[in-house]
Amino acid sequence: MTSSDVAATLPQACDFTVFGGTGDLAMRKILPALYHRDLEGHLPPDTRIIGVSRSEIDDDGYRAEVRAGLETYLAPEHLDPAAVERLLERCHHLCLDAGSSEGWHLLHDLLKDREHADETVRVFYLAVAPRLFGPTCERLAEIDVVDERARVVMEKPIGHDLASAREVNDAVGRVFEERQIFRIDHYLGKESVQNLLVTRFANTFLEPLWSSRWVDHVQITVAETVGVGGRGGYYDHAGALRDMVQNHLLQLLCLVAMEPPTYVGRENVRDEKLKVLQALKPMAPEDVDRDTVRGQYAAGLTAEGPVPSYADDLAGPDPQDAPDSWTETFVALKAEVRNWRWAGVPFYLRTGKRMDRRVSEIVVVFKEPPHAMFPGSEGATTPNRLHICVQPDEGMRLHLTAKEPGPGGIRLRPVSLDLSYADAFDQRSPEAYERLLMDVIRGNPTLFMRRDEVEAAWSWVEPVLARWADSSERPRRYPAGTPGPYAAAALLERDGRAWQETDQ
Ligand code: BG6
Repeated sequence: MTSSDVAATLPQACDFTVFGGTGDLAMRKILPALYHRDLEGHLPPDTRIIGVSRSEIDDDGYRAEVRAGLETYLAPEHLDPAAVERLLERCHHLCLDAGSSEGWHLLHDLLKDREHADETVRVFYLAVAPRLFGPTCERLAEIDVVDERARVVMEKPIGHDLASAREVNDAVGRVFEERQIFRIDHYLGKESVQNLLVTRFANTFLEPLWSSRWVDHVQITVAETVGVGGRGGYYDHAGALRDMVQNHLLQLLCLVAMEPPTYVGRENVRDEKLKVLQALKPMAPEDVDRDTVRGQYAAGLTAEGPVPSYADDLAGPDPQDAPDSWTETFVALKAEVRNWRWAGVPFYLRTGKRMDRRVSEIVVVFKEPPHAMFPGSEGATTPNRLHICVQPDEGMRLHLTAKEPGPGGIRLRPVSLDLSYADAFDQRSPEAYERLLMDVIRGNPTLFMRRDEVEAAWSWVEPVLARWADSSERPRRYPAGTPGPYAAAALLERDGRAWQETDQ
């Protein structure tokens, strides 16, 4: 361990300021995560949570909102009355418009006027519109609350493209040093995603197989059953490529493809992920035409019953206004990592809303045995596959070929070795935000995206966006509740392959 890793320890005092403190992200994710950590006694003893928003409420009003939020978003069995009261006591509210220059002295006074102000770790969580990231940081600098223990947390989207991502990074970087900037990709906080690192690097059996020598291809799927719901305003300007591929799916790809770091710590993992992003084969216009598929959900039938199309979701209650949007709600593409380990191995990625099932998984498909050694046997060998299920049923499944018991010849049958985390570990699996927020408080950036990673991901994605923007072909329609457009299946069929579904 380096001295900076050792320094990532829990402070005694923390002021955790949430800009957008009454918003959806705060109520749904941030406060429930802080509650769970507090319940288990992991928050620094002297922690205050300062919600900043335009709501004209006092501390008591905020506490009432937080209480309602916890009751809504936490499972009833996790609500411990004493722990709820303890968290509420930590909560304060400041009425402040992050877009205006008025009233910031109140935040200054609140942060400075406390015991141990000079030893307190200040976290500034920007759960607000990205256009406010830069101005908010400037104000924080003006009121002199950014010291070397301060940290800023940003949610995606970090930019809309490479140029705007650079602008945001520059603006925040004028106030905070890179080591103080925590860019959240919540997929990196998921237990099963972290376990991918452990599976690869705390075991030896996979490593000799983990390359183009034995791996035929890799599939990464993040399928959702939800539609865009009330997020149409944001989503219609983003689309699935920006919303999911540029960050979550590329991060998963990096963890699968990266080289072993010298140890799992602050910069090493990020250095290795960056190398993968930089090794992605750039997408020329003809590659985009051949190797990408974009789709948009039409009305369809799901397990919840009939659901409207994307356009109708955007229009809301008045379908007359259904806009003619070309925003993609589904993407499938074929990528290649051009390095010694992976050259020639396709990485197929797909993600979509309103698909037939909710599943996030990585499937590593190994090559067929070099020759058929069981002549006359019944059944066929199927390639070995390792399914790494990120959600909802976290675990792993290794598909093998076995001999079916019985006399009289050899019958080959597929079987699987199953590891379910729920069965193996009889304990609650913490939400991604719990891990990530504690890492922010501790000052450990390993699971956060560094500036160069975000920008490398945008560089790779941009030619796809540009080509699509020029295209006269609209996204392919797929009925809600289905696996996406047929073209996504054809993308693999063309290569003699098929998407592996979880239960296969
Ligand atoms: C978010 C996207 O980053 O991830 C959403 O903006 C998406 O559109 C969500 O629904 C998926 O996260 P999870 O954890 O539910 O898979």
